[in-house]
Amino acid sequence: MKVLVLGGGGREHALVWKLRQSPRITQLVCAPGNGGIADDAEVAPADLKSLDSIVSLANRLQPDLTVVGPELPLTLGVVDEFTRRGWPIFGPTQSASRLELSKSFAKEFLQRHHIPTAHFAICDSVDQVRSALGHFHTPVVVKADGLAAGKGVVIARSKEEAASVAAEMLSGRMVGDAGARVVLEECLQGDELSFLVFSDGERVAPLVAAQDHKRVGDGDTGPNTGGMGAYSTPVLLDDGMRDWLLNHVARPVVAGMKAEGTEFKGVLYCGLMMTARGPMVLEFNCRFGDPETQPILMRLDSDLVEAFEASIQGRTSEGDFRWSQDASVCIVMSSGGYPGTFEAGKRIDGLDEAARIEGLKVFHAGTSKRDGVYYTSGGRVLGVTARAPDLQTAVKRAYEACNTISFEGAHYRKDIAARALKR
Ligand code: AMP
Ligand code: GLY
Repeated sequence: MKVLVLGGGGREHALVWKLRQSPRITQLVCAPGNGGIADDAEVAPADLKSLDSIVSLANRLQPDLTVVGPELPLTLGVVDEFTRRGWPIFGPTQSASRLELSKSFAKEFLQRHHIPTAHFAICDSVDQVRSALGHFHTPVVVKADGLAAGKGVVIARSKEEAASVAAEMLSGRMVGDAGARVVLEECLQGDELSFLVFSDGERVAPLVAAQDHKRVGDGDTGPNTGGMGAYSTPVLLDDGMRDWLLNHVARPVVAGMKAEGTEFKGVLYCGLMMTARGPMVLEFNCRFGDPETQPILMRLDSDLVEAFEASIQGRTSEGDFRWSQDASVCIVMSSGGYPGTFEAGKRIDGLDEAARIEGLKVFHAGTSKRDGVYYTSGGRVLGVTARAPDLQTAVKRAYEACNTISFEGAHYRKDIAARALKR
């Protein structure tokens, strides 16, 4: 069969790497892909901001299955369009992807369906923000309603700061239209957990959990990023807590979406805070996480194609995945300056040597390839990912590889999974 993957980051490289192991795939195309993806699949140009561009590519390729990496094509309605044309595609419709597209929609949905989440207020004006702030303690979280590429969440230490951040968002100066509405939220304390499930609109099948590291610096310091590293182990989420999350979060979400006439198919990413009062939903994404997908798929021992097809064909079941008991970790190497401004076009060395380390795979995020040489082309450049029977060995292998790989200005956190290793 012919499979098309949309996207060109580390998450899509991991998807391509895993899909390529399926004996059922005869042709694998990734659009637009990147320098490293080009070694594992055919790459084709496409503008993922344009539904026309995606449709014309698919019309030419006639894929038997399309997998969508980033949220943008989903919010443009790529699943609706492909489904109308009878082209099998994995993911939610445009209206179901509102769970990610609008934080106010997600919060009201959670409230309607009694799913645990932080206290919140939705505000459309500075006046509303000022009066709502009376009901919050500090710190208080200020969120832009729409998609803001990780820049739409600020933890304000004082009410004055919260009001001024909210005013900046509402004015359009901070994150454009995404800030036309803001959500104030109670600040939760605890460990974050990324819990992903596949759904066919009715049933759910859990993936193994992962923990992301969102801040750019060691010890969770500095600005938020798309994610600087993630790990996954069997002990991160035990069976009892997994069942609780299935029964109190994942299944109620899928049932609630169906009851509201916006059936959710695809992968549902539940971003959770494990608080003293129990797990609470921070956010939903209607796609795979990046970098969580890299360590998660490293632990998958079964065929991913089957799980995608089960979702599309309405027969998702827990048996769709077979997981290894190994641990895995992904360390993101980024360009100096990320998540702020950075220079691209730096030559990357040491990839061949790193590839010889046992259990290791370097997923490319922002790279291009010219004359057999890789260059940096984005903020997050590589996801150095390792699998091993225990987390300590996986972490050791991944850092060994990071030390081997070099490019000008390279940055990576030195403490990915460090807290888990201490426990
Ligand atoms: P979100 O895009 O909603 O996931 O927010 C991005 C990050 O901000 C999360 O991964 C958390 O680290 C943090 N965050 C969001 N909401 C809260 C909250 N209510 N309390 C504490 N931290 C939060
Ligand atoms: N790593 C967080 C995300 O994919 O949204």
